[in-house]
Amino acid sequence: MTTLITGGAGYIGAHVVDLLRRRGERVLVADDLVTGIAERIADAPLLRLDLAGTGAVDALAAAMRDHRVDAVVHFAARKQVGESVAEPARYYRDNLGGLANLLLAMERAEVERLVFSSSAAVYGEPDENPVRETTPQRPINPYGETKLYGEHLIRAAERAGRVRAVSLRYFNVAGAARPELSDRVALNVIPMVIEKIVADEPPRIFGDDYPTPDGTCIRDYVHVVDLAEAHLVALDALADGRALSPVYNIGTGRGSSVAEVIASVGRACGRPLAPAVHPRRPGDPAAIVADASRARDELGWRARFGLDDMTRSSWEGWLATH
Ligand SMILES: NC(=O)c1ccc[n+]([C@@H]2O[C@H](COP(=O)([O-])OP(=O)(O)OC[C@H]3O[C@@H](n4cnc5c(N)ncnc54)[C@H](O)[C@@H]3O)[C@@H](O)[C@H]2O)c1
Repeated sequence: MTTLITGGAGYIGAHVVDLLRRRGERVLVADDLVTGIAERIADAPLLRLDLAGTGAVDALAAAMRDHRVDAVVHFAARKQVGESVAEPARYYRDNLGGLANLLLAMERAEVERLVFSSSAAVYGEPDENPVRETTPQRPINPYGETKLYGEHLIRAAERAGRVRAVSLRYFNVAGAARPELSDRVALNVIPMVIEKIVADEPPRIFGDDYPTPDGTCIRDYVHVVDLAEAHLVALDALADGRALSPVYNIGTGRGSSVAEVIASVGRACGRPLAPAVHPRRPGDPAAIVADASRARDELGWRARFGLDDMTRSSWEGWLATH
């Protein structure tokens, strides 16, 4: 079995490349290395291209045929919310244009099976918690819109008989299997806390007056190794021809507050931390936690790792790579 991993040199994609290769399977990575890092995939074959660029359909279809690709996991996307607000057209072109090109190439190469990286960003500021797959999807930024419309495009392709696909809506991804695979940019809470500690500054809490037990925002943090395993389970289910739902929440079903995250990072780095409290940021809901029961019941997937595993491996990864 050979799997095309778009965005495979990225943080999450490289973990899936790693797991598939450990299972003795072949992979082909397609990545433009804009945020990806080639060393993460060692000697795995790499097709370096922009999925949204001219000629991408031809190049992808030819590579899929040459490598006898059976299935695709599509990670390649720009993911910075602020950038997506400032440059919506680029985000739509890159994320939705890239996906459309991939689907056309899959059609041409007669590859049917697809697992798509979606995001809890499709829910925006949900009015129910825990969040179910049926909770209304009202993204609040262009990044989240590209994920939601990407799901819609895939469903339309499925209705047209072009693909068999599942979309996985990730909650807050953290941790690393090994330091060299870790997330190297501080866009999420745990790396942001670590960045402050390393700079000898207090980690920041944005708002401590939310209606939560300790007043800070609650999110559902999922270990990247657990998340990577969810992709393998989804690929296997597609290969077995099992009846699947179009989307699955991938989270732990347990929430951690920002104050709890900071305390856990303090345990990881071996010193208690005194955070600085700043005003709330606009668009930060008090709590978002996944109802992950559909993934458990239908895919047989559940998270194994906890918050301390995520903060410890994030801390070790940050020190090793910065
Ligand atoms: N990290 C998270 O917390 C999180 C949460 C929800 C969803 N996601 C989604 O998971 C996927 C992977 O995220 P990540 O955290 O590994 O990010 P990342 O930036 O580390 O990885 C994305 C990879 O895709 C590549 N890429 C992006 N656009 C491309 C294009 N047009 N052509 C070719 N390659 C391209 C990048 O070079 C990079 O290697 C993304 O689709 C992201 O939206 C991530």
